[in-house]
Amino acid sequence: MDKFVIRGGRRLQGTVVISGAKNATLALMPAALLASGTFRLSNTPVLRDVATMSSLLISMGMQIELKDHVLMLDTAQVNKQEAPYEFVKKMRASIYVLGPLVARFGRARVSLPGGCAWGPRPVNLHIEGIRKLGAEVDVKRGYIVAKASKLRGARIHFDISSVGATGNVLMAAVLAKGTTLIENAAIEPEITALAQFLQNMGAKIDGVGTNRIEIEGVGELHPVDAETIPDRIEAVTFLVAAAITGGKVTLKCVRPEHFSAAAAKLRDAGCTVSVGESTVTLEAPSPIKSVDVSTAIYPGFPTDLQAQWTALMTIADGTSVVTDTIYFDRFKHVPELVRLGADIEMKENAAVVRGVRQLTGAKVMSTDLRASASLILAGLVAEGPTEVLRVYHIDRGYESIEKKLEGLGADIERVSGEEF
Ligand code: EPZ
Repeated sequence: MDKFVIRGGRRLQGTVVISGAKNATLALMPAALLASGTFRLSNTPVLRDVATMSSLLISMGMQIELKDHVLMLDTAQVNKQEAPYEFVKKMRASIYVLGPLVARFGRARVSLPGGCAWGPRPVNLHIEGIRKLGAEVDVKRGYIVAKASKLRGARIHFDISSVGATGNVLMAAVLAKGTTLIENAAIEPEITALAQFLQNMGAKIDGVGTNRIEIEGVGELHPVDAETIPDRIEAVTFLVAAAITGGKVTLKCVRPEHFSAAAAKLRDAGCTVSVGESTVTLEAPSPIKSVDVSTAIYPGFPTDLQAQWTALMTIADGTSVVTDTIYFDRFKHVPELVRLGADIEMKENAAVVRGVRQLTGAKVMSTDLRASASLILAGLVAEGPTEVLRVYHIDRGYESIEKKLEGLGADIERVSGEEF
């Protein structure tokens, strides 16, 4: 397992290119199961999670190649409709194959995802949605077993806005007989990108980008090429890296409208944030002002940026409260930040962060993808070396993060080895 050794104190300066969105790619890849032929997804990020999804789809008979950030998917030989535990335990997004498999092949056997580092991650909304479309779904011996001769359109209202459940039902409904109405659908950019991808494949979808989506089922879809949207979470992670180090950084290949809530909070913290067509430049103030954040569904402040914001607030001037309303227990990064000298007190699903003058380097443990990002951000500003262990977590969702940070002047090194 690799670790990162970071020596803090450098102000980040310069330009960095943001990669394609992990959470869009993880939806588009299973969507290819809905048609037979060859797809090409450009701007695909090189990530562990993309490799995991590729292995799962290859085990079903899909042929996949990733070259120069173009992902080629050939679905003509798909002949298995199963997502075994070995894949699903590594990546919860594997459940995205459920909807397309039932829609196209009439059956699916998908392992229930385990929990994740920060607690249970239920999939009841996915199961209920596919059931409402007419599938017979049993959950037994850790597997979701679904079958349907032909899915039928239905009216589905989600009590909770769920990105994954919206994606799964959307992918199932496009080949169902009749009309499906999804109410309280998630409107994250990755879901909009999925809906547009399906439209280009020949699906009939109205209300794309809204929380009320109407789908008219069609008999067949065809393969398409697509360009993956930029990763809004990686983008803001780098803006926070500029802010926490008191630097000035320009991001390229971004969609600023996808992270306006986070940009507003960075301005509240005293940063200058200037937006171009596909670029954003952040210049940090000194010190950073403390700003409260409460996560929300899109277009609110994303839960996937909560850990990164908490890291920024550890060195802000004053006290802030960082609340996660989506995942109440997504705070595994807090005890590790405290090891770096942060002053944070947990109060249920809120971190009360008292800014300190200086963090000090130490060995810290990655527990999940975004927690790892927050530890790297803190290490960039800590006095003395910080060792972030088990960086395979970060490799799941950030392409070559250490090279990109090094390109901005950070002193960060990946060290390979077994003992950590
Ligand atoms: C997606 O996960 C993202 N993953 C997550 O990003 C992100 O944190 C999350 O959306 C919220 O924005 C991918 O897109 C691959 P949800 P997902 O269903 O779809 C509850 C990252 O760091 N819920 O929108 O699993 C759930 O417990 C990852 O890139 C149910 O109760 O999230 C949560 O409280 C981490 N029953 C809320 O809904 C269900 O059947 C939102 O979850 C499904 C969800």
